[in-house]
Amino acid sequence: MKEVTASAPGKLMLFGEHSVVYGFPSIVTAVDQRLRVRVSNTREAAFSVHAPDVGVDNYKKSISELGSEKIPKGVAFLEMLYKRFIEQSKIKTGIQVETSSDFSSEFGFGSSSAVTVAFAKALTEFHEVPVSNEELFRLCYQAVLDVQGVGSGFDLAAAIWGGTIYYVKPARIVELLSANELPVVVGYTGIKANTVPLVRMVEEKKNTDPTKINQIFEQVTTIVELAKTAILAADWQKVGILMSENQLLLQELGVSSTELNTLIDSAKAAGAFGAKLSGAGGGDCMIAVTDIEHRDAVEEHIEHAHGKVLNVQTSAQGVRVE
Ligand code: MEV
Repeated sequence: MKEVTASAPGKLMLFGEHSVVYGFPSIVTAVDQRLRVRVSNTREAAFSVHAPDVGVDNYKKSISELGSEKIPKGVAFLEMLYKRFIEQSKIKTGIQVETSSDFSSEFGFGSSSAVTVAFAKALTEFHEVPVSNEELFRLCYQAVLDVQGVGSGFDLAAAIWGGTIYYVKPARIVELLSANELPVVVGYTGIKANTVPLVRMVEEKKNTDPTKINQIFEQVTTIVELAKTAILAADWQKVGILMSENQLLLQELGVSSTELNTLIDSAKAAGAFGAKLSGAGGGDCMIAVTDIEHRDAVEEHIEHAHGKVLNVQTSAQGVRVE
């Protein structure tokens, strides 16, 4: 039996969420929690998926019906990617896909983007079709837009390139800022954020009051540029301060939540340099930047405020064949 396994990392948005959707820059880091996808051959002309981590048990669809009817949530990105791959490559064989994950899809680490990227890599290797990172990005980004209609693709870029990157959509700029670990603490609110409605909400606000929202985006962009310089200089105090400034603008945008604000305030009260939400908002995770002396206190304060500290390392390696 022929088979290929690839893995891709999850991500944490450091700066510039929401404005990145409108072409402004952002900074994202890949985390050391990976998603693995194994592609193997089957005799049937069918697309079969076994993804127990997202409750998908032996899903099967004939190749000619890909993309039609209702697709279960846990399969949507894989199925649309395979449909796109067949359209472009004209390779129409049946395949068996199996996924497994180091992390819960609840955390907001970008499990959909990581699974899409790992699958695309495994698939192209399986068929011995060499692809550049840029081509991999284009294939995955199409599939993501097919499924959810919106998205900047920053999470795909983190899964593909890895490290800590400065990103402008759609991978128009991908600049590696650091391949080293950043001194962050990550706290999970226990609430699953729903990205698409939050992106739509910001879109509505932007339509209603473009001047105000554009001003916020311009201010975020100034912060992103300063953060880029600070990360390159490993000036963590500055990075933390800039995170807190970014957070105030996200609050003004209306995407933070009481739970996020509580964890952010508790991290700062414990001596973190600064903190903000990471991702769409409404839930998922917050991140704080701290020096080593305050790290334990920051973690304790987050737990005390009912957050769950997630032990992740940043600047992880991008997609790879296992
Ligand atoms: C969500 O994790 C980040 C957003 O900027 C959406 C996106 O960039 O696709 C809100």
